[in-house]
Amino acid sequence: MTTTSCSPAPEAREPEPRVAPRTGPRTGPRRGLRQPLPMTGHTLGSRSAQTCHFRCGDACLTPRPSSSTAPPFEELAQQAVGRRALLAGLGAAAVAGAALAPRQARAAGRARGSRAAAVVAPGAAAPAGALAGFAPVGPVPADVDDVVVPDGWEWHCVIAWGDPVVAGAPAFDLDAQTPEAQLTQFGYNCDYLTVLPLGGSGKRALLVANHEYTNENIMFPGYTDDASLTAEQRMISMAAHGMSVVEVRRDGPGRPWRSLPSRYGRRITASTTPFHLTGPVAGSELVRTSADPEGRTVVGTLNNCAGGTTPWGTVLSGEENFQGYFRSSDRLDPRNGVYGISDTGRGWDLGDERFDTAKEPNEVNRFGWIVEVNPFDPFSTPRKHTAMGRFRHEGATPSIAEDGRVVCYMGDDTGGQHLYKFVSRDRVAQRPRSGRENDVLEHGDLYVARFAVDGEPSSDHDGTGEWLPLTLGGRSVVPGMSLEEVLVFTRTAAAAVGATPMDRPEDVERNPVTGKVYMACTNNSGRREPGPANPRVRNRYGHVVEITEDGDQTATTFTWALPVVCGDPEDPSTYFSGLPASEVMPIACPDNVAFDAYGGLWVSTDGQPGSLDLADALHHVATEGPFRGKVTTFLTVPVGAETCGPLVDAEEGSVMVCVQHPGEVDGASVENQVSRFPYDGAVRVPRPGVVQALPRR
Ligand code: FEO
Ligand code: CA
Ligand code: CA
Repeated sequence: MTTTSCSPAPEAREPEPRVAPRTGPRTGPRRGLRQPLPMTGHTLGSRSAQTCHFRCGDACLTPRPSSSTAPPFEELAQQAVGRRALLAGLGAAAVAGAALAPRQARAAGRARGSRAAAVVAPGAAAPAGALAGFAPVGPVPADVDDVVVPDGWEWHCVIAWGDPVVAGAPAFDLDAQTPEAQLTQFGYNCDYLTVLPLGGSGKRALLVANHEYTNENIMFPGYTDDASLTAEQRMISMAAHGMSVVEVRRDGPGRPWRSLPSRYGRRITASTTPFHLTGPVAGSELVRTSADPEGRTVVGTLNNCAGGTTPWGTVLSGEENFQGYFRSSDRLDPRNGVYGISDTGRGWDLGDERFDTAKEPNEVNRFGWIVEVNPFDPFSTPRKHTAMGRFRHEGATPSIAEDGRVVCYMGDDTGGQHLYKFVSRDRVAQRPRSGRENDVLEHGDLYVARFAVDGEPSSDHDGTGEWLPLTLGGRSVVPGMSLEEVLVFTRTAAAAVGATPMDRPEDVERNPVTGKVYMACTNNSGRREPGPANPRVRNRYGHVVEITEDGDQTATTFTWALPVVCGDPEDPSTYFSGLPASEVMPIACPDNVAFDAYGGLWVSTDGQPGSLDLADALHHVATEGPFRGKVTTFLTVPVGAETCGPLVDAEEGSVMVCVQHPGEVDGASVENQVSRFPYDGAVRVPRPGVVQALPRR
């Protein structure tokens, strides 16, 4: 996502950075340096078995949660599949959208608060600004242990697992790691990433990252299974979850960011950070526990995946696969069955009864929310917003509608689950001050999407849709469910109103220049019949959905299209808006979507190794004009890793990504690593971290 357009927060005096970049810039592929383990043991999707266990609690091996009764698909199944032939010509609509004149583009950028002067057609075939003309990378084989960037570019690691965040934090030491140290150091498996300006110099900022999950297999020497974890190792893992706020500094725009432990540095964790519950569920019986009989304060956050940056400078984070941390029992509310609560958990129940539903059956209801953190105040209490519903939240991306209400798009990342939209009750200023918290996300209406196909002209690649309300005006509109039940058991409510089952909705984000909304459906190998906006059975490669609201973000109807149905372009089940295979590059398992300030779409992937035998990547995708659907690869990440949290500044020519779970392949362990990312030579384990790519000087 672009750096937020909010006004900078006041700058405080701090000493100069002391932390030098550890990693020398690299460019180009370095192949054959290490022989990785075979990529064996893949499960039902595109991931390694390690990823399935540690991130999702082996969710794909448990019975698939029930979902909405899908609309009739017979018509869809009968429709011809010859899409490439049908659409080989250029779509009239695409051509019409291509020529947004520079003046119009600039006006659009200003109107929506973009800080860029958009001087090219948004979503054009190639990136604009300092990224114009980059030489595409790859395709890069999945076993390459390197970050590969375009010729003429270089990269460095800004911060990695174990690096100091809080002032006074110790340096990482694999053999002497403690819970106390981890509570002050950068967490594991960073995912969402944002950088918020601090002061007006352009030289200081706060970097905020999510830490989705831990992989003890390659973190702790001697690990064999969850039962083998020591109490101290469990506490380290809990402390390595959550979020980090860390100050970063640079010499000026377009220069490398470097992390600096400071008074802004903060770790938010699964075990130590209290959160206020807000909204209709706060105080409900459904969230009361023996430790919190009032049901208003939750300790910790779990499996924080993607997120969003608010126009007022706070950060939203999605609690995604929370179900994997709890041990199921007979006391678990059966209405939680749809979330697929783990039979075994992660062993955390051995040290903390909160994770044993036999002891605390309501604790699980206190996770699966969108959380909001104010990074500018390290002493602020973060919040969990219950008005935004409870599901496996991938993330939430906010924007301000014309009337000042705030709208968040949200995906529920499970095959057959849904796309949601939250519309706030209250209004905010169009350009709120940064660092000033508000309560606008505590009350509002929750909608879920139903997609339909109208038939002509391109059948399964476009159609119409509507936003079905689940709550309106502080009341449930779902028959037989109270407001609290709708918000705690949101999946059941969505199914009851006929929401469309999707192919794992991941990140969803609104293009700040065109106003169109893009959703990554990452894959769904379990799909047995086509559906609206999900045209492919056994969808291994995923697709991107484009939504055009019939009005601003608060509209209740929309049209949709599929600019890209992913995979190897030679595969006839793929679709790149009619472009021939020779014009595009392979892409699979889209996960995060982001926009540069010119309206260029960037898509990061999670699953190219398992589906295409290619390294996961960050791609540019053209969304307008004659090259709509054109995919070009900007960078790839090391063996075992996925690409997360893209942050593309096309004006300065800075591209940042999180390298999540490097070296996570089946058979890897601390004693048998396949990746050494970030290649600093200091430790013998891969360390997930933040990469910044810049043009070489
Ligand atoms: Fe954590 Fe849905 O990716
Ligand atoms: Ca994700
Ligand atoms: Ca992911």
